[in-house]
Amino acid sequence: MKRLTVPAIRARKVNGVTGEPLVMLTAYTARQAQLLDAHCDLLLVGDSLGQVIYGLPSTVPVTLEMMANHGAAVVRGSYHSVVVVDMPFGSYEASPQQAFESAAFLMKQTDAAAVKLEGGAAMAPTVAFLNSRGIPVMGHVGLTPQAVNVLGGYGARGRSDAEAEKIVSDAKALDDAGAFAIVIEGVVEPIAIAATKAVACPTIGIGASAQCDGQVLVTEDMLGMFERVPRFVKRYEDIAGVIDRTVAQYAAEVRDRSFPTADQTYQPKA
Ligand code: KIV
Ligand code: NA
Repeated sequence: MKRLTVPAIRARKVNGVTGEPLVMLTAYTARQAQLLDAHCDLLLVGDSLGQVIYGLPSTVPVTLEMMANHGAAVVRGSYHSVVVVDMPFGSYEASPQQAFESAAFLMKQTDAAAVKLEGGAAMAPTVAFLNSRGIPVMGHVGLTPQAVNVLGGYGARGRSDAEAEKIVSDAKALDDAGAFAIVIEGVVEPIAIAATKAVACPTIGIGASAQCDGQVLVTEDMLGMFERVPRFVKRYEDIAGVIDRTVAQYAAEVRDRSFPTADQTYQPKA
């Protein structure tokens, strides 16, 4: 299987219509990427790794070095999906030039095909700047977690008319600037649908709508690795429960010396 390309992803939406929705999941490690790759169109090395991997309180403290290290691991562990690496807070907002330096560092360190950044119209010139210099950009509007200190929390966006209009115009601005796809996160459904209709590029929903051109979830959330997840997460499995039961059995067997058995021990040749 040859690796998909950014233009192939962009071309999945033709004249406003996407046939089969795009499938995206987050991945942070090589092994995780190996397990997800064949099922996905895109793997996102999300800055959600701040909370999921590092136990940080938000994505704000995530560094370029963290993104580069995990991005490289995910590219090494995959051969089919387009790998997109999140630009962390503070690495791109100051200017298009700052964004280019950071994005080029991530592309060189990881060999990923694209970067993702948060923000709407304010980031459109940056998206155009990167795109025209060889760096494809995925946008991200609605609930943008790096702005948690401005937004005041992780609640759904687009409930007021002003906010709804801004989400749609932000998506349009990113589309006009050449974003190859746009994540719409935590947005009331009619506004997610309006934004999807308003842009030529595919939208990828998370807490948005089944009418987006694709969907993304944090893999650990959908696998049931956490007790508490946002409303928009469907927990497809109870991996935390599987791990708890499995580790409890291991601990009991170590303590009663029923592990290891003859199957797991080496004996001298007879
Ligand atoms: O960091 C992340 O995982 C994301 C997705 C949830 C869209 O940005
Ligand atoms: Na992110």
